Amino acid sequence: MDFRKLLAVCCVSALGVGCDSGAVTTESSYANDSAAQAEAAGLSHGEYVARLGNCVACHSIPEGEPLAGGLKMNVPMLGNIYTTNITPDAATGIGDYSFDDFDRAMRFGVKKDGSRMYPAMPYPSYAKMSEQDMRALYDFIMNDVAPANIPNQPSDIPGWKDMARMGMGIWNLLTMDDDPYAVDSSQSDDWNRGAYIVQSLGHCGACHTPRGLLMQEKGLDEGDSAYLSGAPLDHWSASSLNGDVNSGLGRWSEDDIAEFLGSGHNRFGTAFGTMVEVVNNSTQHMSEADLRGMAVYLKSLPPVIEVNATEWSYSNSDTEALLGLNFIESGSQIYYEYCSNCHGTNGMGYYPYQPPLAGNPVIMDPDPSSLINLTLNGSLRVIADQGPDVNDMPYFRQLLSDDEIAEVITYIRSAWGHNASGVSTAQVSEVRAATDPSRNDDIFVLRMK
Ligand code: HEC
Ligand code: HEC
Ligand code: HEC
Repeated sequence: MDFRKLLAVCCVSALGVGCDSGAVTTESSYANDSAAQAEAAGLSHGEYVARLGNCVACHSIPEGEPLAGGLKMNVPMLGNIYTTNITPDAATGIGDYSFDDFDRAMRFGVKKDGSRMYPAMPYPSYAKMSEQDMRALYDFIMNDVAPANIPNQPSDIPGWKDMARMGMGIWNLLTMDDDPYAVDSSQSDDWNRGAYIVQSLGHCGACHTPRGLLMQEKGLDEGDSAYLSGAPLDHWSASSLNGDVNSGLGRWSEDDIAEFLGSGHNRFGTAFGTMVEVVNNSTQHMSEADLRGMAVYLKSLPPVIEVNATEWSYSNSDTEALLGLNFIESGSQIYYEYCSNCHGTNGMGYYPYQPPLAGNPVIMDPDPSSLINLTLNGSLRVIADQGPDVNDMPYFRQLLSDDEIAEVITYIRSAWGHNASGVSTAQVSEVRAATDPSRNDDIFVLRMK
């Protein structure tokens, strides 16, 4: 346990009064100083850091004032909280935060008034930010973001349960590694830059790493095999980003990964669920070099959930059966009637308009949640440089029953050489009941200033 950790524990006095843990300093390097990449991307250092950290996706609501908060987020077992106003408004935002207050909030999850935050705010990741990026981010928020006088919404968590906040200091102690990112000199500059973004600002692990008993991410870097090995998220599956050869990124090249993060799609598939918000508001704004850095880092992660698995290879027999109108395989006729005109009888899709299903890691994900949610409710829309994607995955909520959806998904998980488990009607019914057919599909590229 290091000295700052001890200080962090001191802050858990029953009164919830915080103590100053002191700002940390990190030596500037290619990996942890985003100034040059900001310039390459045409943004100020601070605005670029805010894009890397995707503050806007959580701290704004569509058509609301930029960074004025108000997004509802669920804290498991407790209830809903709302993101707060982080504009520099002194009365309702963070206008009275000094740099040290801000640094403490970002690294330790302690607000200026000393109260503890739930890790719905991804401070376990932001703890790894460098001092130079933290300062640039602070300057951007204080000087370039318009103050908005919008009071924070109280949480729906009853007071007695909200006492859990006070325990968050102990939670930090048990689960966090709050040191800033340390360069690994045995790795390349690109690898280190990628590791810095993925682990800290990009908080990729907040969604892609499974959580343990205390709801903590099981691993905050590549030293832990569970890191980025895939996790469920609001009835989507944030799938494996490791070298898993079928359901992870094992068959993707560095260029494939960079293309996906920069544009929302590549020859294997598209972003269609929560990842759309990440592409729209964060990764598409990153410089070429930063996209490459992340790709280099992700490609260095070994397989975790599919160690020694046989690599998928295409099989033509299902295509031939479909073309011969031979529908013995359960679900194949539904596929032929409802899906094949866009995804092809051969499952190859029509890249870049309709993604392939054959060989797509999403189809072979052990957790079929994304497939069920997407087939029921359709896709969210990627809006990248060229404008909105013209092609969308339609929703089948009204057209197909739970039985039929289970059948067709089971079919695509075994067709064209796939070997993934079947999906039951009950699994589909569960997602149908839990997801909202009237959800707001207008995913914006949110403004920050
Ligand atoms: C995944 C969602 C999410 C992201 C991304 C996120 N935040 Fe937060 N943030 C929250 C939530 C939720 C809270 C309130 C937590 C609580 O009340 O327990 C919060 C609180 C804060 C606070 C405390 C403000 C106060 O009211 O005193 C600051 C400061 C903050 N965030 C800054 C940032 C910055 C800067 C970024 C981008 C680098 C960012 N956040 C990204 C969810 C997020
Ligand atoms: C009108 C054309 C169309 C039809 C019909 C259609 N899809 Fe799609 N599908 C798409 C498009 C376009 C996407 C990419 C979504 C995006 O870009 O947001 C997609 C994406 C998908 C994906 C995710 C693949 C990935 O990585 O992006 C799956 C799985 C899928 N569709 C399955 C189905 C199934 C099963 C059916 C039939 C029940 C079906 N689709 C019918 C157009 C279609
Ligand atoms: C807010 C949650 C969230 C965050 C943060 C997030 N992702 Fe994702 N990601 C998802 C989900 C959910 C999916 C799968 C379905 C979809 O397209 O939304 C996904 C899909 C992906 C895919 C496609 C995988 C495949 O096999 O098709 C890649 C690559 C990816 N994410 C990389 C990243 C990287 C790199 C980061 C950090 C910079 C990141 N994600 C941050 C939720 C997230």
